[in-house]
Amino acid sequence: MPEGSRIIGSARTEMDTAAYVEFAKDACKRNQGEDWDEASWKEFARLLDYQALDATDPKADWKGLKGKLDKEPRVRVFYLATSPRLYVDICGAVSRAGLITPETRVVLEKPIGTDLASAKEINEGVCAYFEEQQIYRIDHYLGKETVQNLMVLRFANRLLEPAWNRASVEHVQITVAEDLGLEGRAGYYDRSGALRDMVQNHILQLLCLTAMEPPATLDGDDVRTEKIKVLKALRRFTPDTVDKGSVRGQYTAGLVHGKPVKGYLEELEDGASDTETFVAIKTEIDNWRWAGVPFYLRTGKRMAARRSDIVIQFKPVPHSIFGASETQANKLVIRLQPDEGVRLFIQIKEPGPGGLRIKSLPLNLSYAENFMVRYPDAYERLLMDVVRGNLALFMRRDEVEAAWAWTDELIAAWEDKELKVESYAAGSDGPVASAVMMERDGRKWWSQ
Ligand code: BG6
Repeated sequence: MPEGSRIIGSARTEMDTAAYVEFAKDACKRNQGEDWDEASWKEFARLLDYQALDATDPKADWKGLKGKLDKEPRVRVFYLATSPRLYVDICGAVSRAGLITPETRVVLEKPIGTDLASAKEINEGVCAYFEEQQIYRIDHYLGKETVQNLMVLRFANRLLEPAWNRASVEHVQITVAEDLGLEGRAGYYDRSGALRDMVQNHILQLLCLTAMEPPATLDGDDVRTEKIKVLKALRRFTPDTVDKGSVRGQYTAGLVHGKPVKGYLEELEDGASDTETFVAIKTEIDNWRWAGVPFYLRTGKRMAARRSDIVIQFKPVPHSIFGASETQANKLVIRLQPDEGVRLFIQIKEPGPGGLRIKSLPLNLSYAENFMVRYPDAYERLLMDVVRGNLALFMRRDEVEAAWAWTDELIAAWEDKELKVESYAAGSDGPVASAVMMERDGRKWWSQ
């Protein structure tokens, strides 16, 4: 962090800086586990400060916070780790308190709203106080190492680009599977569901990075302009297409990693809900590069394991001299988490005499084996990008709104068709209907 940086925590709770430092220490210790290092902590703790403040109270006294901020021009970041409902009010209060300088930035967490209308309202409200260039809408998936590697893989290697299109790609799968359940977030999650919580943001961002055209430069606007073109070309759902093209699921009790866990309804307080904890979607991108190539998207809570992959399934060779059953097609598997890496499956001859047997084996680029380093958390990268003023990994206003426009239509189609959630046992791969959706197309979800 730049010399002289400070981190000022601010919330309604009355406490002094010493209590805040203890509170932060506790949390950091829990997070670091065995990596805890008291000396590093001491150095870090010197940066911390605290100011009690109710940012939504019109009568609140901002002098305390103002007094803690430097007078000379410096990068100043307001990171709003609050409910999105408060974003506009807080930005207004920060502005009235005279705290917004040209070097000031605001960081907004997802979800920006719960639909297009509320997202527009928030964007409109925040834009009344901050310039778009000062607004950093975080999607922490963009800060993950392997997600950034996706861009490097695509645009720093000549080999892939000629095959990265409808001529060679048969279909694409994007899966973000979680083994976690609600983790005490029932209130938020039950109003949101998997589509709004994971697809509208993280999964659509992964889709954009996979499918976008090469940007002219790595500048924030160049990258974001390419991403938004993908969102605009993403096929919209209608009531006529929604039941074949999407599956909603909700977990029931089951075993995750051998341990019994409750079902979704048992985790909720009132026990009745049609909120989806799993979504599978088949969509297409209607542009020259991707026309006719299905994109299958899937995410769910309480699945068998935490695993996120992007799978590019290539077409088989046009004519096999080895016999049809012997030849499989190439596949590129980008594992985002937990064991980050890239595997390119190619066909080779199985050694041995007799018949010529072909096997599909991966060229394996494992991050763990190649880089013996600690992976930074996505937030480490993103928060430092805010400080450095690098907007490339943050969402622009039109991007968030385009993603909501697509999501809203899917939700409207679900409502129109009254598409119910299908149950799946915790610890499984999701509802049977999701496998059936693939089988209808003669395909399977990648699961290795
Ligand atoms: C968050 C969602 O944005 O991402 C959570 O709100 C989800 O529901 C989390 O668990 C997943 O993030 P990660 O980095 O653990 O894959």
